[in-house]
Amino acid sequence: MNNNNEQLARLPIYLFLWIAGADDDISPKEIETFHRLIDKTSWCKSRYLIEHVNLSSQIFKTVWKQYQDGSFKLNSLDIRILLEKIKFQYPISDCQNIKDDLLLICEAIAKTDGGIFGINTISTSEANAIIVIETLINETLIFQSDTRKNEPSQIERQISSDRFCSAESIDLICIGVNQETNDIHTFRFKEINNRLFDYQAGQFITFNLMIDSKKVSRSYTISSTPTRPDILEVTIKSIEGGLVSNWMKSHIHQGSKLNAKKAAGEFIFNHSITKKALFISAGSGITPVMSMLRSLYDINRNMDIIFLNSCRTEKDIVFKDEINFYSKKMPLLKFHYSLTGQCRKSWKGMTGRLNAELLQQAAIDLHDRHIYLCGPDKFKDSIEAVLKSLNFNFDNYFYESFGGNTEITFNGESTLSKIIFNISDIVANITSPQSLLECAESAGVSIPNACRAGACGSCKVKVVSGKVISLKSGKKVDSQDTVLACCHTSVEDVELEV
Ligand code: FES
Repeated sequence: MNNNNEQLARLPIYLFLWIAGADDDISPKEIETFHRLIDKTSWCKSRYLIEHVNLSSQIFKTVWKQYQDGSFKLNSLDIRILLEKIKFQYPISDCQNIKDDLLLICEAIAKTDGGIFGINTISTSEANAIIVIETLINETLIFQSDTRKNEPSQIERQISSDRFCSAESIDLICIGVNQETNDIHTFRFKEINNRLFDYQAGQFITFNLMIDSKKVSRSYTISSTPTRPDILEVTIKSIEGGLVSNWMKSHIHQGSKLNAKKAAGEFIFNHSITKKALFISAGSGITPVMSMLRSLYDINRNMDIIFLNSCRTEKDIVFKDEINFYSKKMPLLKFHYSLTGQCRKSWKGMTGRLNAELLQQAAIDLHDRHIYLCGPDKFKDSIEAVLKSLNFNFDNYFYESFGGNTEITFNGESTLSKIIFNISDIVANITSPQSLLECAESAGVSIPNACRAGACGSCKVKVVSGKVISLKSGKKVDSQDTVLACCHTSVEDVELEV
């Protein structure tokens, strides 16, 4: 049995375990259905699957034994890896058939109580499991049937080995927008050439937009998970008067094209040190921790996680169904909501702003956990004050906060001056409103940067002499202060320590 055969033969088994095992109870009837499917292949459209599915019976015994004794735990990443592997092993002409057959297996298993193609209602957990698999199959087995009729060429095989986006600038196409709550939308993107996204859970992406003929850069944390790398999602709350959030809502829809800088950010889940996690989020701060939760679900269902989400009302709770699904599948995941606004009498969760009492109530073993927090600046400050009062070890604390104005709206006059980059020993001209960062780049001086919009803090530089001006507020900043090079300019000669 060669490896390629085994991969295609394993797929039906994995799909069976994923769907039937979704409610932690694989019934004899489901096993029987699966055996009927792999023993009698008249339903199979793919000639390659027909040829290989008989191997599934042989492999099944071993995998089933390992599954039962707990030495084999299936997660969606295993299935994705198999899908990725088979994708370029079979002729494009048969890929649609393979895809149809795999989806049919899922459906048959889920409907098994009504017979192979029965009509009984699918349980919620199996329905959710099907959604995950359908998404994986649809996202992974993508092929351009109009241009690729035959076996992949040598060039195509090379492209397949380099399927991740590595460029600094990424062209995106929107493939859908989901309304999550009244004022929160999730925007789903693919890379324009179907390359896979490469980022870490918790990072952000910076869109380069043109709004009302003005260039605007805006960073949003990514809510999707890097373990499902075909799709990148951002979940954005529309802010009253917010230029970009409202523009996104009214201008971005299926088929819209955007440009973005590749993902960046230091707020990432540290797998090597985190054994028990406490996620704390407020408002749209849920997005990076949701990305972490999704990826942990895919790769480590046994992580001990407490997720504490603060929101105003029940209507403002985002991703509720999905989180409930994870709660059922991840035995050590505990989820708490604390509502700060009005709530129904029947509300059984926490109420009020998070304080020492609520934190300890949610996580009795708070001091044993690594905390990952994301929310508005004020929320972050108040939680930090609580943690200080509880003598929490801040080595185990990671955060990202947001707030303040991130839009660059310099209205001053265009002025020519000089920038001295003292460490690099380079002098360059700057014409406001050019940013200090852009000036440095055109002079060949390297300043680390990521979002270029004042959100990530990676472009800090010290002003040694002269005054710089904030492109956001127009305020002058004195020398000896540290400023963000991406959102400051200069209207007089300035010396920077870089
Ligand atoms: S590059 Fe992110 S703050 Fe300047």
